[in-house]
Amino acid sequence: DGKYTVTLIEGDGIGPEISKSVKDIYSAANVPINWEPVDVTPRLKDGKTVIPDEAIQSVRKNYVALKGPLATPIGKGHVSLNLTLRRTFNLFANVRPCKSIAGYKTPYDNVNLVLVRENTEGEYSGIEHVVVDGVVQSIKLITREASERVLRFAFQYAEGIGKPKVRVVHKATIMKMSDGLFLSTARDISKEYPNVEFDTELLDNACLKITTDPAPYSDKVLVMPNLYGDILSDMCAGLIGGLGLTPSGNIGDECSIFEAVHGSAPDIAGRGLANPTALLLSSIMMLQHMGLNHYADKIQNAIFATLAEGKMLTGDLGGRAKTHEYADAIIKKLK
Ligand code: IPM
Ligand code: MN
Repeated sequence: DGKYTVTLIEGDGIGPEISKSVKDIYSAANVPINWEPVDVTPRLKDGKTVIPDEAIQSVRKNYVALKGPLATPIGKGHVSLNLTLRRTFNLFANVRPCKSIAGYKTPYDNVNLVLVRENTEGEYSGIEHVVVDGVVQSIKLITREASERVLRFAFQYAEGIGKPKVRVVHKATIMKMSDGLFLSTARDISKEYPNVEFDTELLDNACLKITTDPAPYSDKVLVMPNLYGDILSDMCAGLIGGLGLTPSGNIGDECSIFEAVHGSAPDIAGRGLANPTALLLSSIMMLQHMGLNHYADKIQNAIFATLAEGKMLTGDLGGRAKTHEYADAIIKKLK
């Protein structure tokens, strides 16, 4: 039928509600996409818990997936399903744009940042052990290979979006070897991109400067090891109104998964209170990735117009609108 098929992982908690908003808005906008919903709940297979094969095959076949939040239990005995997905498909670059929403007032009205987070290793490599009782070691694994691939991605991405400046955010003063390798790899890779400016900044200084005045960061792409990107992206989300508003894309060579940065919010799940904007904006990144820019622009304009009007805001933004009322308001703006 000339349509694209996209894998849909609705997720836990508020996942199904915010996924419904996306589906409703997409059908109202006549986006040429058929959703293929899959269940990623791990199953026992040959004594191991694994992601169902149908889910994996679906993502491999469709190349793109949209994913709601999956609950990550704290403590040992579990590997986060989110991380398993990133690793399974080798989604090595996590792109996290963070831009002020016109009309939604925060102490900052000039945030326009792009973070690229290494997405497969670093502090997330999951290598930990007890040395002796009361002493543990967690390994931060950095390889030249994974560093090269996310850095090349960052340089290409920076050129592609017309912000030809890449800044590596690091702490090589302390993590001399691991961040040192990331940094020296960045210096090497930067030579492949003579049209992109390259510089570096310490992570703590970047936090201080961004929260003081984010404007000087508007023309750059910030690239960094995994955990720094996790923390810095939440900090930046706080500047524009919180995690209800920030999208992300997990990009690999074979396939990509677009997901909101927030969690499954079990406290408000099932009550129609969730803000679907982050998942919607993630889906916009997905449309752009697929080359469906016409639909991306159309839906994005309707979202921003609705937020700017300020009449239909969800609770996290200080409003009283239900998830479906907000989605309906966006649908009205499409016309
Ligand atoms: C994120 C999340 C995940 C992470 C969790 C859910 C494993 O916080 O996407 O930023 O730490 O990467
Ligand atoms: Mn996070």
